[in-house]
Amino acid sequence: MKSEIIGVSQNIQKIRDLIDQVADTGLNTVICGETGVGKELVVQCLYQKSDRVGKPFVKVNCAALPDSLLESEMFGYEQGAFTGAERRKRGKFEQAHGGVLFLDEIGDMSLPLQSKLLHVLQGGEFTPLGSEKSVKSDTWVIAATNHELEEEMRNGGFREDLYYRLSTIKIYLAPLRDRPEDIPHLINHYIEQYTRQFNTKNISIPSQSAIEKLSGYHWPGNVRELQNVLKRIMILGSGEENMEELLGSASPPKAGNSVRTSGREFSMPMDLLGIDGPNSSDLASLSLKEVKRKALDRVEKEVISYVLQKTGWNRSKATKILNISYKTLLYKIKDLNIKPPPSSTD
Ligand SMILES: Nc1ncnc2c1ncn2[C@@H]1O[C@H](COP(=O)(O)OP(=O)(O)OP(=O)(O)O)[C@@H](O)[C@H]1O
Ligand SMILES: [Mg+2]
Repeated sequence: MKSEIIGVSQNIQKIRDLIDQVADTGLNTVICGETGVGKELVVQCLYQKSDRVGKPFVKVNCAALPDSLLESEMFGYEQGAFTGAERRKRGKFEQAHGGVLFLDEIGDMSLPLQSKLLHVLQGGEFTPLGSEKSVKSDTWVIAATNHELEEEMRNGGFREDLYYRLSTIKIYLAPLRDRPEDIPHLINHYIEQYTRQFNTKNISIPSQSAIEKLSGYHWPGNVRELQNVLKRIMILGSGEENMEELLGSASPPKAGNSVRTSGREFSMPMDLLGIDGPNSSDLASLSLKEVKRKALDRVEKEVISYVLQKTGWNRSKATKILNISYKTLLYKIKDLNIKPPPSSTD
């Protein structure tokens, strides 16, 4: 089925133009944005508009497999390469030859595997596990992530050279709350689609006031969340109570101070930010980027401190548990000001 990107916002229009410009070039592309924002949809559109359509489209989820399995999944192996390798297996790189290799959740790939991937992208060939022969690879690599790769690069979690190699073209999909003008168009599109799809007489089309309510919601789960809420409304109806319940259950309030905005309860994790409450004078100068950085630092510090304490400050063990490099761990210890107990050794 042909993929279609709905929306009228500047962000979406720019992305449509970019897709047209990039589709036939085969330039490595990275697509970034929050969860549910449409990254995979953009990858499908790129593929469908490219001259590689009809050739293989192969997806690898880099977050779904442990490192060693991901490596053999990507590059394949020869018979007898390791215990249990009963016959030769073609890796995803080989399967995608001539077509597109979609590396989803690239931000979750470990540093050692990042090096191997870089090697393949530089040389245009790879070597399956246990093989002595390298295999040529002509694949268009498109990657997606909901991580902030630039930030991870600065922290040592993502290789800079790989980042530049992958992101010849970079496409950023803004969250739905930053392009509210797209919401009514998406709602109409999905109402039409679900009316056809559900094929039942009891379908309930959302009222105008329900559509307005949905258009004003902040959609933390972006388009995927909107789809789910719409499906439920069309089956269960969009009565006042039902709407409150649906939007409430779409994003349960987190612990912390809360404020009521247009009838909805929002929560602020003030404790995490180290500020007193919604009226705190700090709040006026707290940009969202800064909030995110502080929250992330705080969580990272707690987790790393905990692991170091549990391993008796054995940094090598800690890197394995945390799945980060030794260099990154040392950087984090310094940057987050994590102090060892008086007598710790490695
Ligand atoms: N602009 C859009 N127009 C039409 N459908 C959209 C749009 N954006 C997203 N969708 C739809 O929303 C759903 C979620 O999108 P998608 O799977 O591409 O998100 P994602 O960014 O890859 O999310 P995740 O990070 O969770 O993997 C899909 O069904 C997709 O087709
Ligand atoms: Mg996705």
